[in-house]
Amino acid sequence: MLEIGKPKPEETVVVSTAAGAVGSLAVQIAKIAGCRVIGIAGSADKCDWVVQELRADACINYRTEDIDQALARHCPQGVDVYFDNVGGATLDILLGRMKNFGRIVACGMISEYNAETRLFTARNMLDVVTKRLLIKGFVCSDHFDYAEMAYRDLVKWHQEGRIRYRVDEVQGLSNTPSAVRRLFDGSHRGKLVVKVAD
Ligand SMILES: NC(=O)c1ccc[n+]([C@@H]2O[C@H](COP(=O)([O-])OP(=O)(O)OC[C@H]3O[C@@H](n4cnc5c(N)ncnc54)[C@H](OP(=O)(O)O)[C@@H]3O)[C@@H](O)[C@H]2O)c1
Repeated sequence: MLEIGKPKPEETVVVSTAAGAVGSLAVQIAKIAGCRVIGIAGSADKCDWVVQELRADACINYRTEDIDQALARHCPQGVDVYFDNVGGATLDILLGRMKNFGRIVACGMISEYNAETRLFTARNMLDVVTKRLLIKGFVCSDHFDYAEMAYRDLVKWHQEGRIRYRVDEVQGLSNTPSAVRRLFDGSHRGKLVVKVAD
């Protein structure tokens, strides 16, 4: 969020999978940076948590709302930073809603991981040129040099009550396959962890 998104105070940031492990931190870090933050999540219950506990300014339930119309309502001037965890059609919609010089942090594309064919093409790719957008991917294992800073800041923010999280613990290594499936049906809450031993 900070290194690629470079969020500035008062800017508008959108985060997908906002109630998930990664997304919930992205929402809160953007709030700490002084931004207006709109989450996208897959249930009313998740959206309530994103707004009430994570202090996002709004959250779009993509299962019941039209994302594009909701973004037009929540971000009429457009989006400065999109932290993308889902890819696919949601990314395409956001391309169309970005402001000039917007930044897209490509963290994950979970809507595409199980696709048997890669047929998706973004209709709004031309916006990358006309709006001079930055789209940059990252993989956290390339950035262990940031770990010390991240632990320091996250622990401090948590102690100050500015970072909240929840953990969904599954017991036993043999339950790993069904636990992994929950990442895709969205039935877990927060960071999904398999506990292999006490
Ligand atoms: N780049 C990196 O280094 C890095 C590291 C870790 C994770 N990631 C990526 O970050 C993303 C979130 O990972 P996480 O571990 O924090 O998981 P998570 O957000 O806790 O769980 C995944 C969530 O994705 C949503 N989802 C599942 N299928 C979807 C679909 N077809 N369309 C839209 N949303 C869908 C569900 O939330 P809803 O109920 O809200 O739909 C689900 O709860 C993933 O894309 C993951 O690959 C990237």
